[in-house]
Amino acid sequence: MYLQKKGNKYWACCPFHSEKTASFVVNADEQYYHCFGCGKSGNVITFLMEHERMSYVEAVETLAREARMELPEEEDPEVIARRAKISKILAANKAAARFFYSSLKTPSAAAAVAYLDKRNISPEIRVSFGMGYSPDGHSLATALEKQGFARNTLVMAGLTGEDGYDPLAKRLIIPIINAKGEVIGFGGRTLEKDIKPKYRNTKGTLVFDKRKNLFNVNLFKKTQADEKHTSVVLTEGYMDVISLYQAGIHNVVASMGTSLTTEQCFEIKRYVSEVYVCFDGDAAGQGATWRSLDMLKEAGLEVRVMSLPDGMDPDDVVNKSGAEGFRELMRAALPLTEFKIRSLASRQNLNTLRGKEKFAVSTLPVLSALDPIGRETHIALVSELSGLSRDSISNSLSDYRAGVSVTRPKSEEKDAETAVKENINAANLNMCRFVLSSVIDGKSYVRVGDFGEDFFTHPVHKAVYAYIAERIEKKDRAPLKGDLFDLAPEDPEEVNAVISAVDALPQDKQAEYYEACLSRMREKSRKERIAEITGKLKTAEGDLKSRLEQELLELLKKH
Ligand code: UTP
Ligand code: MN
Repeated sequence: MYLQKKGNKYWACCPFHSEKTASFVVNADEQYYHCFGCGKSGNVITFLMEHERMSYVEAVETLAREARMELPEEEDPEVIARRAKISKILAANKAAARFFYSSLKTPSAAAAVAYLDKRNISPEIRVSFGMGYSPDGHSLATALEKQGFARNTLVMAGLTGEDGYDPLAKRLIIPIINAKGEVIGFGGRTLEKDIKPKYRNTKGTLVFDKRKNLFNVNLFKKTQADEKHTSVVLTEGYMDVISLYQAGIHNVVASMGTSLTTEQCFEIKRYVSEVYVCFDGDAAGQGATWRSLDMLKEAGLEVRVMSLPDGMDPDDVVNKSGAEGFRELMRAALPLTEFKIRSLASRQNLNTLRGKEKFAVSTLPVLSALDPIGRETHIALVSELSGLSRDSISNSLSDYRAGVSVTRPKSEEKDAETAVKENINAANLNMCRFVLSSVIDGKSYVRVGDFGEDFFTHPVHKAVYAYIAERIEKKDRAPLKGDLFDLAPEDPEEVNAVISAVDALPQDKQAEYYEACLSRMREKSRKERIAEITGKLKTAEGDLKSRLEQELLELLKKH
């Protein structure tokens, strides 16, 4: 990247999106960067995290190395003990993986091998995934204890019970490996039809939490270097991943039978900007799925939703119609909003007037969340699907956005209520951003003591407030924008929103809006305190009671 100095800033072509003229600026005084093209911004740590795909700790360690700084030696005995346990668990897991792997080559594994043959899993792929077999309940402990592992290490790793028994006995073993290539746990599939559960996984340990990890990040990351994936396919099962991988689709990961978590979404975002969500046919319309899709989007990913033929999972698709059949479905995947609208349409009978109306009303919360251009194009889609005019849809949408209730079926009522609440929250979010942004920017209309910590509920806002307060108290230097990204490395988007909020208004309107924000926020925090006191007064006695009553009186007078 070539940086050109202009004044006290440096300009370059943005490394996060492709462009020919420079709109990426590095502000050395404020220690941060911002791209006017794609809106990315952050400091040196977020740069390494996003551009070099490092974790927060890796980024800090890298910087420390470059600056030839020693990171402080850990002294906390608890932390040291925890680290020792973790390395023991990882060593035991590795040894166990070797044991399972070699067991697959012994005669006792005949059923497992026959099963893999039946499922068309090639010998090469068995090796790539390190697949194995647990012959019985006790051989694992015997083998590992012979290598010097203590029983309590095996227990701590979830490999055996206190009695030394392997809970994955007689199962096909699929190691679960993290991005660093460490074996963190195992999935064990039964080879018999009616044994439940179908998969048994390593229980949660110091290194394994199936809600935080994704299956196959290791191979996905490895192929990333050569194949430069910009997207990943997200499936639900081990076998889906293995089958797609074998078919040459290497950019594939899976959650492990739990609904998606924020950590998993951000893990995906570290590697790619686009995700093809490929949930089993029947799951696609369900509430939990929508939540997962929104979480992926909130993590900053472009979301595409695939539809699979009824009752089929990705593995079935590949077995039936090969990689090409699967790629065909990828090409047909719908962008998130279109998916939502089409699936709302499929829930109504669009041959009836009532059905058309119900459908159109159900799309209002979805439309309302879009930016103006998205709103326009999707109103067109709703109009096309329902046969209602764009004008009528757009009028209902305006009413809806203004919080006026539109005639809607009973079952949708709760949705509308939540949507109105969300609107209020969004307004509050903007006000909080604006006042913080004004302080950070050193606006002349800001006075010390304008507001207090109780104004904020968003964790990033609380952190920014605390940072500013500390700066002001110490009087050492003005807040640095670059520092703000350190406060919440997990949420650079919100930090960015806070930094740029003040620029959303022209200079001559800022002071006025700032005052308006303050008075509304004061009012909000006054009301909240009143509610809190009223609640406490129900049980308060004696001195506390009279103090609360006094405060309540003061608060009520202020109005
Ligand atoms: P599926 O039943 O869809 O798995 O469960 P699959 O990979 O298609 O299994 P096959 O094709 O029948 O072998 C999805 C995922 O949910 C978890 C596993 O991670 C599985 O891959 N799961 C499922 C469990 O942990 N336990 C179970 O009993 C079932
Ligand atoms: Mn399957």
